[in-house]
Amino acid sequence: NMNVQIVSDKQAGGKAGFQVFEDALQNGAKVLGLATGSTPVTIYEQLVASDLDFSQLTSVNLDEYVGLSADHPQSYHYFMQQHLFNAKPFAHSYVPDGANLDAAAATSAYDQIIAANPIDLQLLGLGKNGHIGFNEPGTDPESTTHKVTLTESTIEANARFFDNADEVPRYAYSMGIGSILKAKQILIVAYGEAKAAAVAAMIQGPVTPDVPASYLQTHPNVTVILDDAAASQLD
Ligand code: F6R
Repeated sequence: NMNVQIVSDKQAGGKAGFQVFEDALQNGAKVLGLATGSTPVTIYEQLVASDLDFSQLTSVNLDEYVGLSADHPQSYHYFMQQHLFNAKPFAHSYVPDGANLDAAAATSAYDQIIAANPIDLQLLGLGKNGHIGFNEPGTDPESTTHKVTLTESTIEANARFFDNADEVPRYAYSMGIGSILKAKQILIVAYGEAKAAAVAAMIQGPVTPDVPASYLQTHPNVTVILDDAAASQLD
């Protein structure tokens, strides 16, 4: 039930991913679950260049840094505006509210948004360690939206984007693994050698909290788009 498509590069992956979105919209999808990071960029380029209309649709993003508002250039909300929303506005676009420092309120509000807007198609990137969203290894597979403490390596990797070390987010709000698995359809995309081990573990390894993406094996409708390098450790 994992439909694996192998493409030559990110550009071809963008076209293949676009096709999954177009088919879902033709089949009546109204709520799109979206992701940030480098992986979705070529899909968003194809969506922006297309004549698809999102003005009657709703988008729901996976995650956001705590402490960054939508207008902060390093926020995931801002990323979405730059890569998709400015060119293709949705009727409603939801991203966890990073400006709300009350984690219980922010996460339960987001769970209510997801419950009111069940996700038809959820786009995911894959972490090198098998994470999806900010769900790192060890996350409860039934988790809903929750506050995540960023790892020291993530904080260090992000520091270069900020003027002041105090501004680097220490926490994020993320949909849980359980929230992601409720989507009707899932599209997960991975490119490059650095993702190859996580891809093999996701598709061919045991279902385990050590590899959050392995829970996708339990979902009935998953499409995986990989380039040759990311597919290189599959049997
Ligand atoms: C992004 C997200 C992350 C990324 C993952 C891969 O919203 O939730 O799980 O999808 O870290 O990142 P890239 O695509 O930059 O390799």
